[in-house]
Amino acid sequence: MKLTVIGCGYLGATHAACMAELGHDVLGVDVDADKVARLQAGEVPFFEPGLSDVLRRNLAAGRLRFTTDHRDAADFASVHFLGVGTPQQRRGYAVDLSHVESAVDALAPLLRGEHLIIGKSTVPVGTAAALAQRMAVLTAPGTRVTLAWSPEFLREGFAVEDTLEPDRLVVGTDPDADDTAADEVIAEIYREILETGVPFVRTDWATAELVKVSANAFLATKISFINAISEICENVGADVSTLADAIGYDGRIGRRFLNAGLGFGGGCLPKDIRGFMARADEVGATQALRFLREVDSINTRRRGAMVDLVTDAVGGDVLGTNIAILGAAFKPESDDVRDSPALNVAGQLALRGASVTVFDPKASLNSRRMFPMLSYAQSAREACGAADAVVVATEWAEFVHMAPEELADVVRARVIVDGRRCLDATAWRAAGWEFHAIGGPMRDRPNVGPTPRVRPDVALPQVETVATPPSR
Ligand code: UDX
Repeated sequence: MKLTVIGCGYLGATHAACMAELGHDVLGVDVDADKVARLQAGEVPFFEPGLSDVLRRNLAAGRLRFTTDHRDAADFASVHFLGVGTPQQRRGYAVDLSHVESAVDALAPLLRGEHLIIGKSTVPVGTAAALAQRMAVLTAPGTRVTLAWSPEFLREGFAVEDTLEPDRLVVGTDPDADDTAADEVIAEIYREILETGVPFVRTDWATAELVKVSANAFLATKISFINAISEICENVGADVSTLADAIGYDGRIGRRFLNAGLGFGGGCLPKDIRGFMARADEVGATQALRFLREVDSINTRRRGAMVDLVTDAVGGDVLGTNIAILGAAFKPESDDVRDSPALNVAGQLALRGASVTVFDPKASLNSRRMFPMLSYAQSAREACGAADAVVVATEWAEFVHMAPEELADVVRARVIVDGRRCLDATAWRAAGWEFHAIGGPMRDRPNVGPTPRVRPDVALPQVETVATPPSR
């Protein structure tokens, strides 16, 4: 099929390349000429594992190209995905829909004949209905445009996999119209995926829009839940990681997204829970989501707690100390530093007078743009030179598997602070390091075995039940 994807950021560029991978002829459209030129040259403008292979393969096969011209898009295809960004408004919690609106404003007047627009961006409930009205005014007489909403659930770092092998497909259409034509088109676009038995949820606009924000609100709540418990663990000397393992064995709870630590960040979870609260307010259900304010507050508190922990670890005052921050991205396998807990902590420590040196395997460039006053190193070892404390703020595999001996001879003091509870505390202690972890003590966990913390969202392997309680 011929498809266009309007907006070529994380979501749109991945979607365009993956639709071409499914065999469709795809035209990606973005207003940013530089981004379009880079994508057309086979260069992904951000770090996303596996995406450049898919991009290059499909450019070479002639199934994929990019343009800044909406007229090109209107002429090229009759199915258009909307994948533009929906950030938080500069002032307030509500979602900034200006990119979605301008994409529709640019495309709708150019369409002729019959078209299907499929929104993928994360939007507040009611957006599709409002956009349909907006399009009705903009489209030429005789042109029929159907609008469907199909939220995207991809995670950064797993974007290609999540697009080609999604957990579910959700499609919402106008509840007052009989859009069977849209069903057929969508079934054809996703035929290969649907044939694998992926659940297909067919619903109305409002439900589809709410599915996405509810999913992200749930994930954020799960993380803040375990982080709230970790605050208690800190006070009573209990081990929240073992606790998470133990409650995670209950299938109703599950171990995924129960890693306590510095909390959530990125371009989605924080702004999605805020946008959800703002829209709940607007639809007269303020009380319903009041708990999300607490979820947000627990999450933000973790950053302050981390700064306090580092301060204690260096003896009560960071002024004049050298602090190495390992990790700047909001999570591993990403170069995204939007609302990154790691950078937030780095910035706070610098403001308190520490000399902060940051190393991240992929996000240094983006970090430098956001926080130019911090120093940046080319390697973990370089960042740790003369450090009074080494802080692991993002659980990149290379930090998780770092041998304590590698850093021992470059630091000024063997003090390590684990902001993601991802390190082997026993090994660091055994190598003579003073070990601190956010969220309370980390006990030796002989019966639980090495936990796969590198991908915090992956379920724990089933291990034998703990026979004896971990030693205190
Ligand atoms: C999220 C949703 O997972 C995805 O479905 C949606 O489409 C977009 O938003 P993403 O922003 O890529 O994806 O990140 P995610 O993997 O959800 O992680 C979010 C944050 O939570 C990260 O900062 C991560 O470090 C943190 N996190 C995750 C925890 O602190 N603990 C956990 O147990 C899991």
